[in-house]
Amino acid sequence: MQPTKHIWMDGSLIDWDDATVHVLAHGLHYGTGAFEGIRAYETESGTAVFRLTEHIERLQRSCKALMVPVDWKVADLVAASKELLSLNELTSGYIRPIVFYGTGSMGLNPAGATVHTIIATWEWGAYLGEEGVANGIRVKVSSWRRIGQDALMPNAKLTGGYINSVLAKQEALRAGYDEALMLNAEGFVAEGSGENLFVVRDGVVRTPPITAGVLDGITRESVMTLLRDDGYEVIETEIARTDLYYADELFFSGTAAEVTPIREVDDRPVGDGHPGPVTKRAQQMFMDSVTGKNERHADWLEYV
Ligand SMILES: Cc1ncc(COP(=O)(O)O)c(C=O)c1O
Repeated sequence: MQPTKHIWMDGSLIDWDDATVHVLAHGLHYGTGAFEGIRAYETESGTAVFRLTEHIERLQRSCKALMVPVDWKVADLVAASKELLSLNELTSGYIRPIVFYGTGSMGLNPAGATVHTIIATWEWGAYLGEEGVANGIRVKVSSWRRIGQDALMPNAKLTGGYINSVLAKQEALRAGYDEALMLNAEGFVAEGSGENLFVVRDGVVRTPPITAGVLDGITRESVMTLLRDDGYEVIETEIARTDLYYADELFFSGTAAEVTPIREVDDRPVGDGHPGPVTKRAQQMFMDSVTGKNERHADWLEYV
């Protein structure tokens, strides 16, 4: 990761190297925080952030779920994100806001601990690699189940919950795959370590519902809308493991992964082993939308 000049911390712009936290921060010990991942793209009309307000609104929802009091309004964090991109001279890149408990409480009850909000930005290319975006990635069903609704909140982007994703990702990479796919406690397909999943069969597009234990992905919602705009039937429904093996096409969606085709799952080729037409169409429409080439969804872009 290439450092940028500034980080926004609790309302002040500070140097990248000075953006440190105390070793006794509650969030460090117990994972008590919430975060976001957002992308900015270069467009013909300048730098634009994709669905920035919706990402910040999701951050606020995650904080509400964990009961972290946030000092900042959505508009404040939207403005700070844009200001930071421009100060860091980024024409495109990744934005990482995070809210977490600092010092003041060392018990599990965070009451009395400080709350900090930071925003960082940096340059970021294709999360699953350029080659993966072009030709598809190899995925393995994880031995780790996606965190359940009864233990944590899969639909809140909480820092502590990501240990689940880290374990799955690490396991997949060590076994020689590019990404993990997690099942939920019931054995139905949930999502990747940091991506939502889409399954295409006989021209119909399916994705697990939020109740399957997935994050309400903003890219997922965008892709569902774009495919429906294009006349595809898109259904939120339970996905069984065999649906993966019988699929014509599989792809991941996410801010980091954008739309990434899956060419192999559990050592079985997906379709003919190459990205299929629906995946390519979703990829094209998504990239057009983020770069300002889709007028119908021009309101998804927030210009810096
Ligand atoms: C577990 C998980 N699922 C799905 C996604 C995709 O969500 P989005 O499209 O909002 O980035 C992410 C990324 O934030 C994620 O971490």
